[in-house]
Amino acid sequence: MRYFITGTAGFIGFHLARRLLEEGHEVVGFDGMTPYYSLRLKEARNAALVQFPSFHAVMGMLEDGTLVKDSIAAFRPDVIIHLAAQAGVRYSLENPKAYLDSNLVGSWNVLEAAREVGVGHLMLASTSSVYGASPGIPFHETDKADEPLTFYAATKKAMELMAHSYAHLHKIPTTAFRFFTVYGPWGRPDMALFKFVKAMTEDQEIEIYGEGKMSRDFTYIDDLVDSIIDLSAVVPAEDNRVPEIDTLSLQGPFRLVNIGGGQPIGLLDFIETIETIMAKPARRKMLPMQKGDVPRTFASPDLLLALTGRKPETTLSVGVGEFLEWYRQHEHEIG
Ligand SMILES: NC(=O)c1ccc[n+]([C@@H]2O[C@H](COP(=O)([O-])OP(=O)(O)OC[C@H]3O[C@@H](n4cnc5c(N)ncnc54)[C@H](O)[C@@H]3O)[C@@H](O)[C@H]2O)c1
Repeated sequence: MRYFITGTAGFIGFHLARRLLEEGHEVVGFDGMTPYYSLRLKEARNAALVQFPSFHAVMGMLEDGTLVKDSIAAFRPDVIIHLAAQAGVRYSLENPKAYLDSNLVGSWNVLEAAREVGVGHLMLASTSSVYGASPGIPFHETDKADEPLTFYAATKKAMELMAHSYAHLHKIPTTAFRFFTVYGPWGRPDMALFKFVKAMTEDQEIEIYGEGKMSRDFTYIDDLVDSIIDLSAVVPAEDNRVPEIDTLSLQGPFRLVNIGGGQPIGLLDFIETIETIMAKPARRKMLPMQKGDVPRTFASPDLLLALTGRKPETTLSVGVGEFLEWYRQHEHEIG
């Protein structure tokens, strides 16, 4: 199969592309190498992908609609998986325009290219952040999710809605997935696991927001990749509608799916797991909740399970162990 993936120098795009290449598929990866975090890390991921003869990298920004369209038209993919975005909850307070440009204009360019070129399945990365501070747990895809707490969440929700309209108007089969705190080797330096391990390795304090009372439904990267690949084969259509819990639209081939295991973990338990695996206590600095933070995330995996027959299951201690092993090997080259 031919996969066009945006964001392949990023954490999730790298893992997804590598797996597909290992399985013998052809991949074109589109990434603008934005300076949001260490370019050395992005370059190292890209260098690992270009080892595969069936990988081709396009360096460019999503905001360049002509380049996005021409790259897709030249490759004629079976599936487009749009992962590139300005990610990060906290940075959206500092630099909202980056989110507007990448997540709205950039995503619209991907939609336009899909409309003009045509594609069998368009898949888009949204986020658990769209549920905001929803008190109803677990979070079901059918829940009302229109009270975003951050501009990041607002742009992702808007992307979901834009994609729905394109699915309706132009009959583009579209799956939008909502990811829940993804972690693992080659992970993002702005996320908690990376920051905690780095600080603990360097004998620095770790900053614990919300006085440690927050919880997150962590998803191990390999499980996430399994789910994306499983879902790529489930092209939204009436014949795969799941009774009662489905989000498959009545107006077009569009579906929203959570990718999360439904096993949230408290921040303090998360830290204890890291301490156990590193065999080292953390020096804790307790801080209040930050603006825009949500107290908890908790996925209902029911729709994912019904569509694919499995859900993320890797335990936190296994996943953190894998991250640590990677971190120790690569610490010097990712600065
Ligand atoms: N990692 C998580 O826990 C998580 C959770 C929820 C949703 N998501 C979503 O999953 C997707 C992938 O996240 P990730 O963790 O791999 O992030 P990442 O930042 O590691 O990867 C994103 C990649 O997109 C590229 N990019 C960003 N803006 C671009 C632009 N305008 N043009 C071209 N390239 C651009 C970056 O250079 C980067 O390599 C994102 O859409 C993110 O919002 C991630």
